[in-house]
Amino acid sequence: MMLKDKVAIITGAGRGIGRSTALLMAEHGAKVVVCDYGVSLDGSAPSSEPANAVVREIRERGGTAVAAVDDVGSFEAGQRIVQLALDSFGRLDCLIHVAGILRERMIFNMAEAEWDDVIRVHLKGGFNLLRFATPVMRQQRSGSIVLFTSRSGLRGAPGVPNYAAAKMGLVGLARSTAQAMAKYNVTVNCIVPVAFSRMTQRMAGPMIQAGLGAGEELGLPEDVAPLVVFLCSEAARHVTGQVYTSQGNKLALWSQPREIRTVYAEGRWTPQGIADIFESQLGQDELVRFK
Ligand SMILES: NC(=O)c1ccc[n+]([C@@H]2O[C@H](COP(=O)([O-])OP(=O)(O)OC[C@H]3O[C@@H](n4cnc5c(N)ncnc54)[C@H](O)[C@@H]3O)[C@@H](O)[C@H]2O)c1
Repeated sequence: MMLKDKVAIITGAGRGIGRSTALLMAEHGAKVVVCDYGVSLDGSAPSSEPANAVVREIRERGGTAVAAVDDVGSFEAGQRIVQLALDSFGRLDCLIHVAGILRERMIFNMAEAEWDDVIRVHLKGGFNLLRFATPVMRQQRSGSIVLFTSRSGLRGAPGVPNYAAAKMGLVGLARSTAQAMAKYNVTVNCIVPVAFSRMTQRMAGPMIQAGLGAGEELGLPEDVAPLVVFLCSEAARHVTGQVYTSQGNKLALWSQPREIRTVYAEGRWTPQGIADIFESQLGQDELVRFK
């Protein structure tokens, strides 16, 4: 029981990684607000069923949960969801933002709505929740926040410029908030998950055809939940501003971006001056090449 009597909001908790996280947090004694808008992968056709089903599941196992069938992309919903946690359970200890959608398109074909919707759910959704959760945690002088980012954001992926931008944005949001909230004993970390869910089903298809179990190759949503429980527990009070991968039985720590090579001009750089020293003194060797 690593989260006894803690109160947790988990967005995207109706399916996939969010659902597994909600179940494990409840098993560890947390009272859970199961937040899910119940949409399809592209964000359409909302339904209350996924959130309500997870609440039923938690209660059947003897845990405590309420449903918040709300759209995290709305600023007002952020306030409503935090208020629901306070009204239901009297405090807020953990905020886990897992909710997300996918609208794949190459940059040269992307519609404005495809960009806006993905940024709205992932990145603005993170802001909407943090904006109302942080004052509560600041006053309590404690709290744990976990945001879900992606390898597509940190390393890039050609078919999801909207998603990659949103996921990289969440890392910036996490590191800024980690710095702002450190003195209030509030931690903010990111997870890069890799798990078989409806979001990765297409990726998993070729692997399954090749005879591999999808969970075997990608890992499963329930493999990711233990890291969330740890990051929200008293054992991780000193861990903040970091990014961790969770995939199957693998955990990994990501580096922080930093300047790795420096060169100074005598006076101001000229374009030709940069060209003259570029390969020998700045370059891009030792890094991932995109071309
Ligand atoms: N599965 C992976 O391998 C993988 C890889 C990298 C990143 N991620 C990220 O992990 C998170 C969970 O992914 P998953 O694979 O479990 O996806 P999923 O599609 O199975 O679950 C996402 C859940 O979010 C909910 N949701 C979507 N929009 C919402 C909104 N506006 N308000 C509230 N709820 C909303 C959906 O209804 C759904 O239940 C996502 O942020 C995803 O981008 C997943």
